Amino acid sequence: MAEKFDVVDIIRTKRDGGELSPEEIAWVVDAYTRGAIGDEQMAALNMSIFIRGMNRREIVDWTRAMIDSGDTMDFSALGKVTTDKHSTGGVGDKLSLPLGPLVASYGVAVPMLSGRGLGHTGGTLDKLEAIPGFNVDVPNDRMMDILKDVGVVIAAAGAGLAPADKKIYALRDITSTVDCVPLIASSIMSKKIAAGADSLVLDVKVGSGAFMKDVDAARELARTMVDLGNDAGVRTCALLTDMSTPLGRTIGNSLEIRETVDVLSGNGPADVVELTCELARKMLEMSGIHDADVEERLKDGRALDVWKRMVRAQGGDPDAPLPVAPHTHEVVAERDGYLTKLDALALGVGSWRLGAGRARKEDPVQLTAGIEIHAGIGEKVTRGQKLLTLHTETPEKFERALESINPGIEISDAAPTTEHKPILDRID
Ligand code: URA
Repeated sequence: MAEKFDVVDIIRTKRDGGELSPEEIAWVVDAYTRGAIGDEQMAALNMSIFIRGMNRREIVDWTRAMIDSGDTMDFSALGKVTTDKHSTGGVGDKLSLPLGPLVASYGVAVPMLSGRGLGHTGGTLDKLEAIPGFNVDVPNDRMMDILKDVGVVIAAAGAGLAPADKKIYALRDITSTVDCVPLIASSIMSKKIAAGADSLVLDVKVGSGAFMKDVDAARELARTMVDLGNDAGVRTCALLTDMSTPLGRTIGNSLEIRETVDVLSGNGPADVVELTCELARKMLEMSGIHDADVEERLKDGRALDVWKRMVRAQGGDPDAPLPVAPHTHEVVAERDGYLTKLDALALGVGSWRLGAGRARKEDPVQLTAGIEIHAGIGEKVTRGQKLLTLHTETPEKFERALESINPGIEISDAAPTTEHKPILDRID
């Protein structure tokens, strides 16, 4: 059967700064998904979009075409309000892990469909797999049972959810067309709208360890995603949060699970607790629950109890010891002073080189590799004081990891003049 459009015309229109019609967008996304147009043609179109941009209507149509390429989830049979959270990805970003159980402890259902880490940013699924027995592949009917019974499930998104995005994202990754607001916004929101929750809070990261290096670009991304969600009937809001320095005191899969349990036991690092609580309040407010004392719920053990029930429901043992790396190396302060830089990208790449992350989708990850952080931005340190402990199963990786980490640490005579703030802005 003859195709409705010629992809060369569509590429030319966008290359020359023109607007694509709803029909052209629906066709091109569908044709690429079913293999009727080639990778080189979609790559050229992505690059044209990267350079020329898309207007609001085109972004809505592109997002809708990616949703329509696959299945959508429907939780209406649960009889519970549902809410979800998405982060644009960062270093040490384990917030989904304490957040899901905390929100579910209020009776709101939290179906979280997560991804794996790629490059220097970690992935929620890799972290959860550090728990002995934990299974991230949960069939839909079992997901419904866990949501009814426990209230939260964190699982791998099935292959059927926005398959067009999977194919296009893989191509963007190898053609330098990832960091583009219309393409990121439509990629994230197609999956989140297809995932079917009633509301969504977005954590848009800003800084060296994030896609968005500056706050204006992050604000534009957040605004675009919030509008896409609300227009599609998913109540959506966003926080802009700092990713110039790692979140919390751990980077790496098993290490971050340990910190999650600390947060759920009322002992977490201040920045992780502040962000978890703020995101939880937003999710609860959008679900009709106002004035919740979420800080107290981290202290009284009720959120920890939901975490343990979720881990058991997904085949894991919440009381089993977490795996520990056989090799460690300490990084110490070279002089007295104030820690004025602990760079998220430098440490993220360092942790990846230690084995915590993967370069290609098929690569395995070391569950135990990563970095423990002993001093945060603004702290006074003395020469010889322990700043970081590096963990790995492959000690030959220390040297390459340190080549990234060392330039990311700065100790100055004067304390930083501005206080480090985890939350930079809120967008409703
Ligand atoms: N995460 C996604 O899912 N898509 C993007 O384009 C970027 C980050």
